[in-house]
Amino acid sequence: MGDTSIMSRTYKLALIGFGNVNRALAQIIAEDGADMATRLGFDLSIVAVSDLFLGSAYDPNGLDLRGLTTLPAEKEALSKLAGGKTEADNEALIKDSVADIVAEATFTDSTTGEPASTHCSWALSSGKHVVTTNKGPAAFHGDDLRALAQENGCQFGIEGTVMSGTPVLRMAQNELKGCNINGFEGILNGTANYILGRMEEGVQLEEAIAEAQSLGYAEADPTADIEGWDVLLKVVILAETVLGVSVSPNQVRREGITGLSSGDVAGAPADGCRWKLIGTAEVDEDGKVEASVCPQRLPHAHPLSGVSGATNAVAFGTDYLGQVTVSGPGAGRLETGFALLSDIVAIHQHSAN
Ligand SMILES: NC(=O)c1ccc[n+]([C@@H]2O[C@H](COP(=O)([O-])OP(=O)(O)OC[C@H]3O[C@@H](n4cnc5c(N)ncnc54)[C@H](OP(=O)(O)O)[C@@H]3O)[C@@H](O)[C@H]2O)c1
Repeated sequence: MGDTSIMSRTYKLALIGFGNVNRALAQIIAEDGADMATRLGFDLSIVAVSDLFLGSAYDPNGLDLRGLTTLPAEKEALSKLAGGKTEADNEALIKDSVADIVAEATFTDSTTGEPASTHCSWALSSGKHVVTTNKGPAAFHGDDLRALAQENGCQFGIEGTVMSGTPVLRMAQNELKGCNINGFEGILNGTANYILGRMEEGVQLEEAIAEAQSLGYAEADPTADIEGWDVLLKVVILAETVLGVSVSPNQVRREGITGLSSGDVAGAPADGCRWKLIGTAEVDEDGKVEASVCPQRLPHAHPLSGVSGATNAVAFGTDYLGQVTVSGPGAGRLETGFALLSDIVAIHQHSAN
């Protein structure tokens, strides 16, 4: 017989930001929640939701899941649920609600990581675990937030910040623990990779960006994707979590794909190469870190050369295994909602040990 105190555990969640990712988490709970107790050993109850556009709602006994999953994308829509209000209520719901876990999925600010970092700090200081897909807190304040989590006996789960639900951080941290990982190279932005693939087929940069926008890969403002800012934050997170070195965002050399012409990209396969936007970090023998984001011309034999479209991949350099490559989706609402669930599973496993 299993330990029934662990088997019957219910985690109460506060969702901060209720866009694609946290809505996907609510959908996963609505669809699979009944199964979770037997499969994963816990139940999830959403007690609080707060969003700048939709307002907020709080019920310590659990909000109506059907109301949440069918919520229209209309201003102040959360105010129509029982326990609802027209405005967001982040601070009170993070600090004072009965939630055990705060799922932070507001927008990523690529220059300061705020206000998401403050949300994470409020949660951890109040003894609540954090799961987040937002790169800002981990890239700008990762060390401080990990320390705060440890002080408060909490977990700071960030699996979805790199390659969405593809378990790249956890795989490297857990399964490669016995190896020395001295560096990594990654295709970490599906939009840039899709655009480069189209340029290889002769499409001009501007046209490829418009296509990526119409397919929902690229934002209305594609700067973070095509100028390498998004990859830069992921390089910082990978360097800290996998290589165990502190790298600040301004230490990473950055160049996007806008300096490449379709002629350069389309001509490379004739020479046995492909252009890719590569995020990389390497630690030398003296412990010095070199980290960069820049387009690279990879030979066909390179493990990242065949990674096409919106797929992401990271190749780790290890002592015992040589290069180990993980590939999978790097974005998507359900894929990223799943990343939050995977962090909750890790919180549960940790509390069971
Ligand atoms: N979607 C993906 O595939 C994916 C993959 C990996 C990581 N991520 C990251 O995950 C996070 C969430 O992504 P998403 O796709 O769910 O974004 P989204 O659809 O834009 O949703 C974010 C929601 O948070 C709200 N919000 C913004 N600032 C807030 C604040 N201070 N307090 C409360 N609510 C706030 C937004 O309201 P307004 O619209 O009024 O601003 C919006 O409703 C982002 O940091 C993103 O970079 C996403």
